[in-house]
Amino acid sequence: MRILGIETSCDETAVAVYDSELGVLSNVLFSQIPLHSAFGGVVPEIASRSHIEQIHHVVREALARANCSLSSLDAIAVTNRPGLPGSLLVGVGFAKAIAFASALPLVGVNHLEGHIYSSHIEQDLPFPYVCLTASGGHTALYYVEDFTHYKLLGETTDDAAGEAFDKIAKLLGLPYPGGPRIEQLAREGEFRDYFSYPRLKKQDANFSFSGLKTAVLYDLIKRGAYDPETKSLTTDDHDLKVKVASSLLVCIKDIFLNRLTYVYNQVPVRALSFVGGVACNAYLKDALRAFASDRNSIFATPSPAYCTDNGAMIAFAGYQRAQRGEFSDLTLDIGTR
Ligand code: KG4
Ligand code: ZN
Repeated sequence: MRILGIETSCDETAVAVYDSELGVLSNVLFSQIPLHSAFGGVVPEIASRSHIEQIHHVVREALARANCSLSSLDAIAVTNRPGLPGSLLVGVGFAKAIAFASALPLVGVNHLEGHIYSSHIEQDLPFPYVCLTASGGHTALYYVEDFTHYKLLGETTDDAAGEAFDKIAKLLGLPYPGGPRIEQLAREGEFRDYFSYPRLKKQDANFSFSGLKTAVLYDLIKRGAYDPETKSLTTDDHDLKVKVASSLLVCIKDIFLNRLTYVYNQVPVRALSFVGGVACNAYLKDALRAFASDRNSIFATPSPAYCTDNGAMIAFAGYQRAQRGEFSDLTLDIGTR
């Protein structure tokens, strides 16, 4: 089976071709990061306008790189939820048009399901396993029992982990997306815990990161390094930024490991999978790999290209649905949750 996967839920126009025998044949991305970086986050209207300009180029390129035509496809998979409505509409509308014109079946894919199974694109994983999904929009723990079968164990009650990196980076005057810059700075600080930001008190499988952002903000104000009136950093002290970034990463690592310890005590686990944009972080990956190894479970995390938003994960999750005969019709709607 050969599937085209279209992803436009946020700020990446991403399209891929996945073949169930040969694997990923192409994975093309138009990143809008330069369009949003000056704003410190994604601007929804800019995102949807950019998708509508780029989508046909990205689809053409994905087909060309896979050396295939629409007539050699078996289905069109598209992210239809959750995400920014204006962005989702572009991908879903385009996918429907191709499906209609080429008489191909359509598969609506949940973006989070795309992330959850992204570890399987490059390696086999035994079920059941625990999946930590951490991106700019979501942070959640799932118990994955099979393809298309997973249960939510816990999720963030406010900000996502990636959002915490992005917002704290903004406090430090760093451009969007903050995660990679924070990791770079933290490496200079040798991943030491200089400022001991607060960890989560409650013992469960949920997350909360908005308090962490506030704690960092108040700590910077206390150190005379941030002016709440002008909402800007009042110092250029590189060493301070390094210490904030380093302490932040250690704190988020501790929160992740604490939550994983909790769920490992609740359910039988054969593997641990770490997915989403935050799973690009080498320090967090190493910490989770060591955690899994101590508990005799397999550790899996996709290559960075399959961690951040991409078409391949949508094509792959769409393939799992299509194989089970689970198709959508041309009335497929979008969902923001
Ligand atoms: O999965 P993704 O591309 O988009 C969403 O679905 O949200 O994730 C983007 C997020 C951003 O918040 C970004 O700061 C974060 O992933 N990120 C990282 C790293 N690379 C990207 N966070 C921490 N460390 C990184 N190296
Ligand atoms: Zn995502």
